[in-house]
Amino acid sequence: MNSIKRHLYDQFRLPRGPLGRLAGRTMSRRSSNVERSRWTVDLLALQPDARVLELGYGPGVGIEAALEATPGGHVVGIDHSSTMRSMAAKRNATALRNGRATLIVGDAQDPPSDLGTFDAIFCCNVWLFWNNPDTTIERLARLLAPSGKLAITHLPRHGNPTKDDADEAAQRIEQQMQRSGLIQVERAYLPLEPAPAVCVTGKTC
Ligand SMILES: C[S@@+](CC[C@H](N)C(=O)[O-])C[C@H]1O[C@@H](n2cnc3c(N)ncnc32)[C@H](O)[C@@H]1O
Repeated sequence: MNSIKRHLYDQFRLPRGPLGRLAGRTMSRRSSNVERSRWTVDLLALQPDARVLELGYGPGVGIEAALEATPGGHVVGIDHSSTMRSMAAKRNATALRNGRATLIVGDAQDPPSDLGTFDAIFCCNVWLFWNNPDTTIERLARLLAPSGKLAITHLPRHGNPTKDDADEAAQRIEQQMQRSGLIQVERAYLPLEPAPAVCVTGKTC
């Protein structure tokens, strides 16, 4: 990857400044992104009063979908980009004002210990940036209530992605969830061009 490409790619890992806002706008307007976030929330089959955590909320599209699915619940997000926090806060201003949403700037790999437990935790195109997915998934599993669900969605983006890239990511995520003690580990595909998104879900006992 040349240095210009690497710099642009990095705006999706840690969006900041004007280029970060441009990346955020791309994420919030690209139909495949929006469809993939909403599909992931649908797969969680949330109860209306569920407590939900999204990691790497970006411009806040997934937070918005989770709020719609839980009219009596609470949605927390963690993203390490303050640029994304301001975009997501604008999109979800009413829920923040009403105390139905909380948007934290922090590292999703090491969530604060005082968040309580969640009925569901999800992320979309964030897993690929984790330094140690095994440790992160173990920490997330500990934040889940009994019968809570973790959903990790991956949509391959780089080069000329194919279904094989989605499959390879899914296999690694499945193994990581199984090693962390999650059960009923399953995968689902969302057909998109040129490659499908894949979501791996796992539950606590
Ligand atoms: C490719 S974007 C995806 C954004 C959003 N989930 C979506 O699908 O539109 C990745 C997001 O994850 C965030 N992120 C990446 N690594 C993170 C980490 N370790 N902790 C918190 N946020 C992280 C980035 O700041 C960025 O907002």
